Amino acid sequence: MKIGIDVIKFYTARYYLEANDLAQSRDVDSGKYFKGLGIKKISVMPPDEDIITMAANAGKEVLRYVDINKVDMLLFATESGVDQSKSSGMWVHKLLNLPETCRVVELKQACYSATAAIRMAFAMVYQNPESKIMVIASDNARYELNSPGEPTQGCGAVAMIISTNPRVLSLQNKAGVYAKDAMDFWRPNYRTEPFVNGGYSIELYLKALSESWKQYSLISGNLFDQHYKFCYHSPFPKMAEKAHAHLFKENNNHEIDKSLLKTEISGSLKYGRIIGNTYTASLYICLISLLENTKENLAGKIIGLYSYGSGCIGEFFSVVIEAGYKEVISAELHDKLLNTRQRVSISQYEAYHNFSDKMVEGNHNIPHYEDGQFRLFGFKDHMRLYEELE
Ligand code: CAA
Repeated sequence: MKIGIDVIKFYTARYYLEANDLAQSRDVDSGKYFKGLGIKKISVMPPDEDIITMAANAGKEVLRYVDINKVDMLLFATESGVDQSKSSGMWVHKLLNLPETCRVVELKQACYSATAAIRMAFAMVYQNPESKIMVIASDNARYELNSPGEPTQGCGAVAMIISTNPRVLSLQNKAGVYAKDAMDFWRPNYRTEPFVNGGYSIELYLKALSESWKQYSLISGNLFDQHYKFCYHSPFPKMAEKAHAHLFKENNNHEIDKSLLKTEISGSLKYGRIIGNTYTASLYICLISLLENTKENLAGKIIGLYSYGSGCIGEFFSVVIEAGYKEVISAELHDKLLNTRQRVSISQYEAYHNFSDKMVEGNHNIPHYEDGQFRLFGFKDHMRLYEELE
């Protein structure tokens, strides 16, 4: 029985910051952002956008392709949750009019939890082949102003349906996992921005890649060359390039050629270069980018995927692309979404960034910015209030 991703779409905020503008304002050589990190633009959330509105926008697109009444579970993956108790998925459940028989839960393990959600969905669908499970990954990758992490910010959501007879790809059951308690990146409940040990986080990302790959290749029997392309969790695109070069060297005992590096992963990085980090959604935006920006037919090809979540867990797994995938991907929709965003100045960006610090009052309306189909219009008695736009 084939189980996998039947439909997959993403959404990102309607504003962006040019990496060049940020570099100038922070008095940094723009080469560091362009070449050193691989970033051109980052998506910026206005005050009336959040992980829930982004999730609902991505989810709405997915529901165009499936019978909503068959969706019996929503797994919401995030590391920028908005409530300590209520799952962000409950608001999405309402905004999308999901059935009352649909289970909802939020999952957390830094950038990894969407992959855990997919694994869980796989097992649930295996038990009940009629089941259609919506997995949403939505995050606001937010760092302190003027910090080293600032150019690696971004925001976005991916929604997908996991089912039998998937139209996009089948998941392979054999995966390699590496887990170890570590403090490379963490955000205590009282903080709006994380603490980051940048160099250590890169070291752990690569260690977890090596270890999870070893276990994956041992139990699956798949060799490096059997993977047609690769997608990596991408906190910044250069990290994915470093990861692929690292894995190549470990498997081939010599450095990867620049053109092979490009062939094997550059399609997956096109969207991330102009969106920025999206934490849980990042790997799956890379996957969509690969599917929508690879000219040759990927049907039947094996793609290797690496998911990393600080703290830390790495998982290496693979998928096989299905014959009809081109009929359910949406390059035009996503291109339009990305190319119609409005550019913000540094002062606008900083004002949006600082706005969330004011959301402690519990009773206020939020001005209307450029949005997708859903917006957060305010708070009443500490309750979040959303609306769907015409
Ligand atoms: N021209 C070209 N390249 C330049 C340059 C210039 N003028 N100036 C610097 N560079 C290069 C550097 O050589 C370096 O490249 P290499 O790593 O290949 O040597 C690169 O630009 C970055 O420079 P620095 O290492 O000096 O940058 P930094 O210390 O200011 O910060 C960072 C980099 C640690 C990634 C920081 O942005 C950060 O902390 N980011 C958040 C944490 C993160 O993303 N970690 C990744 C793994 S953890 C994870 O994946 C989970 C997650 O999503 C957060």
